[in-house]
Amino acid sequence: MTALSMQHVAWLGLFGVLIWAIQTLYVSLRPGLRDLPGPWLARYTPLWRFMFVLGGKAPEGYRKLHAEYGQMVRTAPKVVDISDPSAISLIYAIGSKFMKSDFYCSFDVMYQGEFMSSMFTTRSPEEHKALKQPVAQKFSMTSIKTLEYLVDPCSEIFTATMKEMEGQVVDLGTWLQWYAFDVIGAITFSKRFGFMESRKDVQNVLSGIDLGLRLGGILGQIPMLNRFSLGSKTFRSVLCRLSLPDPIDIVTKMVSEAIKSYDAQTSTTDTRTDFLAYFRQQQKSTGKVMPDKEMMNHLTNNLLAGSDTTGISLRAVFYYLIRNTDIYRKLQKEIDDLNDAGKLSPVITYAESLQMDYLQLCLKEAMRMHPGVQYPLERVVPHGGTTISGHFLPEGTVVGVNPAVIHRDRQIFGQDADEFRPERWLCDEEKAKLMGRHLLTFGAGARTCIGKNISIMEMGKLVPQILRQFDLEWASDEPEWKVETFWFAKQTGLLVRFRERSRNP
Ligand code: HEM
Repeated sequence: MTALSMQHVAWLGLFGVLIWAIQTLYVSLRPGLRDLPGPWLARYTPLWRFMFVLGGKAPEGYRKLHAEYGQMVRTAPKVVDISDPSAISLIYAIGSKFMKSDFYCSFDVMYQGEFMSSMFTTRSPEEHKALKQPVAQKFSMTSIKTLEYLVDPCSEIFTATMKEMEGQVVDLGTWLQWYAFDVIGAITFSKRFGFMESRKDVQNVLSGIDLGLRLGGILGQIPMLNRFSLGSKTFRSVLCRLSLPDPIDIVTKMVSEAIKSYDAQTSTTDTRTDFLAYFRQQQKSTGKVMPDKEMMNHLTNNLLAGSDTTGISLRAVFYYLIRNTDIYRKLQKEIDDLNDAGKLSPVITYAESLQMDYLQLCLKEAMRMHPGVQYPLERVVPHGGTTISGHFLPEGTVVGVNPAVIHRDRQIFGQDADEFRPERWLCDEEKAKLMGRHLLTFGAGARTCIGKNISIMEMGKLVPQILRQFDLEWASDEPEWKVETFWFAKQTGLLVRFRERSRNP
């Protein structure tokens, strides 16, 4: 009996392997995909892609792949990475039928023991619409201006600390991340996390998010295993039991407390303009109750999508400015001239920052050189298939354009695309528009970043605030920063020395 069972198991195993082999061969030899170039192992297994991102060097890796294989590279049996600029308008256009791929499942969060898709992770257009509709207005330009009073204290804490640390070697990268997280806490529920004040990673929120990004970025390369990894409740609870910091747990607790304390307030006048207050005020005026789960979804999403990204972009701005002294001086002069003409407030406002043309070019160019996201923005080819670069791709193929690749395209950005040169944007209108259409810093089309203006506001205020008050110099023994990419391209080693200038606000 036992021998028979063993035999059965062996046959079943063999049968399983056979099915898998046939399916793999079918996918790898599928018309439309079989002729595409790429590493040979990638056509048979997604493991190739898994190994490819493991070292955190995806951006360089993707650039090399395209240099070697051309504009279409097969990176997994059903995945094609694309560097043809004309594909952007097709894949990411507003109204495009290319939906987000299952890669994004890895970033779904758990809430009350259940998985919860966010506006960023959802693959369903209906769910996306339902999530976006109640918050879209809060991200508008007019609304963002009302958030400044929450950002200003963060800028003041930042500059006061740099003054105190004058002459010392400061890990500016860490401080910028702390700043960005404190700002997002302030604008989301009127409460800073307190990273800057306590000068540490409060409750290991940051290291927890970092771990989540690593796991999501790596395991997301094999979405078919998702149900056994990040898509499995058991897997997630094992992670928790390993005492690894769980940022979602900490963040949801913070959000719950903020909601409770908001609801407990006794004053009848509500002058708050943060996101939480907005949702409650909307509820009052329309009578439409936003369920707790949805409220939690939006507030945690802000914290997870809007902080590291801004921190990374701020690091990029300072890094490229410090490494390019002519550009640094030119920008500082723009700020000084406005300051000397009495046109800048003690805490520089968003409106004032928008008057600084060269500053805006520097921000845009730094984020072109170093976009926050440096993995392909994956989408699924819709029903009926599609043709890209003259090549037919069957439906279900996952395609993606990586900002790190397209931003260095010489046809679009010029022969010096690898150089930080804000002046490249001062070209004729047609050329500037062309470059703008290929800038994927904030994604594109229907799923473009909803928080873009919040970040531009934060960065536009902080950068001139610092350059007006301080001179910054590179203070690391290493010639370069270090970048590790797991979805976000995070830098370390941005060590800087601050010196206060005679010119003060
Ligand atoms: C410089 C800072 C930022 C960068 C570089 C950035 C980058 C991006 C990118 C590339 C996408 C598209 C992802 C894709 O297509 O797969 C995206 C989407 C998104 N971002 Fe941002 N982001 C930034 C700041 C923010 C902020 C401050 C918030 C919120 C407070 C935010 C919230 C979101 C949300 C909710 C989405 C999903 C939008 C949708 O699918 O409708 N981001 N972001």
